[in-house]
Amino acid sequence: MSQPLDLSVIQAQTASTSFKDAWQGRLERWYAHPGLYRWSLGNPLTRWLTRRRTRKLFDLMAGFVHSQVLLACVRLDLFRALYQAPCNLTDLSRRTGLAPAVLQRLLLSAVALGLLEHRSQGRFGLGPLGVPLAQHEGIAQMIEHNHLLYQDMQDPVQFLNNAWSGSMAEYWPYAHEKPPVTMPDPMVKVDVDKFTRYSQLMAASQGFVVQEILSSYFFDEHRCVLDVGAGKGRFVSELAAHAPHLHFKMFDLPPVLALAREGLQAKGLSERVSLHPGSFLDDPLPEGADLITLVRVAHDHPDAVVRQILQKAHAALPVGGILLLAEPMAQPHEEAGQPEASVDAYFHFYLLAMGAGRLRTPQELQTMMQEAGFSHVEQVPNAMPIHARILLGRKSQCLPSVLQKGVN
Ligand SMILES: C[S@@+](CC[C@H](N)C(=O)[O-])C[C@H]1O[C@@H](n2cnc3c(N)ncnc32)[C@H](O)[C@@H]1O
Repeated sequence: MSQPLDLSVIQAQTASTSFKDAWQGRLERWYAHPGLYRWSLGNPLTRWLTRRRTRKLFDLMAGFVHSQVLLACVRLDLFRALYQAPCNLTDLSRRTGLAPAVLQRLLLSAVALGLLEHRSQGRFGLGPLGVPLAQHEGIAQMIEHNHLLYQDMQDPVQFLNNAWSGSMAEYWPYAHEKPPVTMPDPMVKVDVDKFTRYSQLMAASQGFVVQEILSSYFFDEHRCVLDVGAGKGRFVSELAAHAPHLHFKMFDLPPVLALAREGLQAKGLSERVSLHPGSFLDDPLPEGADLITLVRVAHDHPDAVVRQILQKAHAALPVGGILLLAEPMAQPHEEAGQPEASVDAYFHFYLLAMGAGRLRTPQELQTMMQEAGFSHVEQVPNAMPIHARILLGRKSQCLPSVLQKGVN
């Protein structure tokens, strides 16, 4: 069982330090020995490990340059320009308006990072990491969007002291302000724009998450799906094509569902999808679905709100109904420091800057689902957990067992 991630709620441990602590302390003293670095480089059996650690530390120091190289390539539209059309420096200089002397620094850096590749006759083409960037508009949009987080974190300590007042917090209206339960006045363009802006980004970036869900879970047993926090309806639209027998309900804030309506009509889905504007802070969730999905919703909210959403989902489902929760989740504690775990750092800071939610481990969310009354709670294995992990829970009785005890 991994530790909960909200460390502020962990009671101070009274037990004495463990054998593992003593061993780790000893290792730390050993690593600090001045001769160890030189000795390990001289030893063919240990050289690879020291080189790998040094490289990793260097990458941590230089990471901000890497992400700015990536952002510059996106802003100059290099990935789309070079897709199946390699170009030389002179042509790229003409295209971007940047002098060859400086542009080549960017191109060589992008080659070094695997984004671009050298091709024949001094041309540049896409590297293995550049191809998906040319193909998936959502990745480019997220890279551009991350610039807000980069701005917020320029002084990281100041950011930690005052995380909820930067550009990222301003970007996500529902994380701070009480969300609108009616349509905002269309004349107040700035209010409407805020919802349009994030809903568009979410729709563009949801593709990989949708793919994970559709390839990991069978929808055959279901009849009607309620997607809570459905956004513009990308998941619903793709699921509708994947499982033509399904009907859908979408629940989201009124201004967001107003944006979804047109897209659903254009896809000919108006008959199969009903829209239920509301706020899960104030309203119950609509009944009638035998599967409720929560895709990238829980991590935006504090624990008390997540508990409320889960309880409302439990109340809205019939006995036998299923809740599917999918979002990025934290690596188990014991895997910290592994390459996959570095993704957690991004989400910890993103969600802090956003203002209300936090990254949770699968175990934490499973416990919250059980407390809301779900049974048979399990994690569904999926191919690319970096995009999302998937949890399922079943409603097997009308009241959560905690409440039933009170009733009896
Ligand atoms: C991070 S977005 C995810 C959207 C979509 N599920 C996806 O994965 O792209 C969270 C969604 O929850 C909605 N939301 C936030 N607060 C809400 C509330 N109080 N009631 C209903 N929906 C809410 C937002 O409008 C947004 O569409």
